[in-house]
Amino acid sequence: MKQVIDNHGRPISYLRLAVTDRCNLRCFYCMPEEGIKYVPKPHLLTWEEMERTIRLLVSMGVDKVRLTGGEPFVRRGIMEFLEEISQIQELRQINITTNGVLTAPLVPEFKRLGIKSVNLSLDSLDRQRFFEITRRDEFQKVWQTFEALQEYKIPTKLNSVVMSGKNTDDIIPMAELTREHNVSVRFIEEMPFNGDGAHEYQEFWNYRRILEELKKQYPGIYKLPDPPSSTSYNYQIPNHKGTIGIIAAFSRTFCGTCNRIRLTPQGQFKTCLYDEGVFNIKDVLRQGLSDEAVKQIIFEALQNRAKDGFEAEANRKVNLVSESMSTIGG
Ligand code: GTP
Ligand code: 5AD
Ligand code: SF4
Repeated sequence: MKQVIDNHGRPISYLRLAVTDRCNLRCFYCMPEEGIKYVPKPHLLTWEEMERTIRLLVSMGVDKVRLTGGEPFVRRGIMEFLEEISQIQELRQINITTNGVLTAPLVPEFKRLGIKSVNLSLDSLDRQRFFEITRRDEFQKVWQTFEALQEYKIPTKLNSVVMSGKNTDDIIPMAELTREHNVSVRFIEEMPFNGDGAHEYQEFWNYRRILEELKKQYPGIYKLPDPPSSTSYNYQIPNHKGTIGIIAAFSRTFCGTCNRIRLTPQGQFKTCLYDEGVFNIKDVLRQGLSDEAVKQIIFEALQNRAKDGFEAEANRKVNLVSESMSTIGG
């Protein structure tokens, strides 16, 4: 296996695969209330096409895959797919990002399949506020997923998008979870990927502001070393079991070490979250090309990567960033 390196010297080792654009929640920061227009099935990558793509990428040095969506577990066949890809030798880790609504009963299977970690979206610990943000009354099921992950000792990160006027009162209660739980609670800057474009912010909570809020409550909070290519700045509160992360997703401070590529459910190959897709792998695979020919197309795309999310955004043909996160996978 030869490690593929991009035109800025960054090894590419992490694929984020959005397996569906469908979702059973309607998070305010991700979709309009009426939802988005879903992609018709023939336009979606099949499980076989996804598996072939993973195998090709693994042969180029990708060793980590994260399944996202939409909500990955609303697509039929996902557990069989997980079983298949868990047998790929050089794939060092399979991770999942889920909203947790359907996930609790699947946790024992995750353990058996060796799923490395699960990132669970949870923006509020208050049932009413959870409902206001996600427009569905599913807090209880998400919490059961969290409990199951803890019980089975699957490393877990809780993702919380910080939104002014919505859930900033949840920052401290979420941080408190780290007192007794071995979990990483991550606060994420809101991005305009909501199927609508930028909405009016009363005030934008960037990573500095989030840290200030934490420092007010926990003056002793201290910095931890960040793992390579980490999206989060990591911290710990003295004597707490878990850790805290802050993700500057909008400020884009971590592009210099970005090892990530993305595939959307319809096969758009993205070399940055902020680009609009650089080619479509479904079209390439359906032309009947050889593995080597497909790898060459991927390789070329990786030699033309934007240096950061600002350049990728500026290169867009349709300039406004407004897709729903459910069509990108985060
Ligand atoms: P780990 O693999 O555990 O490090 O997770 P992750 O942070 O890569 O993934 P997750 O799906 O939990 O995403 C958390 C948040 O980080 C989401 O809001 C993502 O959109 C954001 N994020 C992930 N990768 C990138 C990236 O390359 N650029 C930007 N701007 N945000 C990202
Ligand atoms: N801004 C920031 N993060 C978002 N996510 C979804 N939409 C947005 C947005 N507009 C996060 C979810 C999920 C992760 C994959 O992306 O919280 O945990
Ligand atoms: Fe669904 Fe995730 Fe979008 Fe929420 S953020 S609507 S859980 S895809």
